Amino acid sequence: MKQKEVHFIYEVYQSIKGLNKVDANLLETARSITATAYAPYSNFQVGAAALLANGEIVNGSNQENASFPVGLCAERVLISAISSFHPNTAIHTMAISYHNLNGESNHPISPCGICRQSLLEYESRLQHPIRLIMSGMEGKVFIIPNAAMLLPLSFTSDDLL
Ligand code: THU
Repeated sequence: MKQKEVHFIYEVYQSIKGLNKVDANLLETARSITATAYAPYSNFQVGAAALLANGEIVNGSNQENASFPVGLCAERVLISAISSFHPNTAIHTMAISYHNLNGESNHPISPCGICRQSLLEYESRLQHPIRLIMSGMEGKVFIIPNAAMLLPLSFTSDDLL
């Protein structure tokens, strides 16, 4: 028997003030795009903003449904929009934020499991890491160098060979 270890390093900033201009702008965009969420059931409005390899910034927000499982997270709305409107374009960085109308919005959000799988697929498809900036409307900011780090021992297209 062997034991293996998985660990990853990420950056922690006390606030948006510690970020460089480009990252701060992307996070500000994600924060403001939370207002476009359709989240009448959870009151948890999520915004995501991606800086593409071609320099463009594209946004997405969560879109819920009276039939709850139909709802889509902001990250997957954004990935679908990028894939449709900017085909074969790598995502350099994605910032994610949220506005919790029922409580605080001051600790970093972390993508859900399904979104991690989606981010991973986009990373491997474009052969380009997606840097993730995670935060709320205020407070700490986490930066992770790529989405694969959030999903160790993942299921990928290699498993289908
Ligand atoms: N949600 C996202 O949009 N992204 C995440 O990373 C976590 C959760 C959404 C799904 C649902 O509309 C609401 O937040 C509450 O779970």
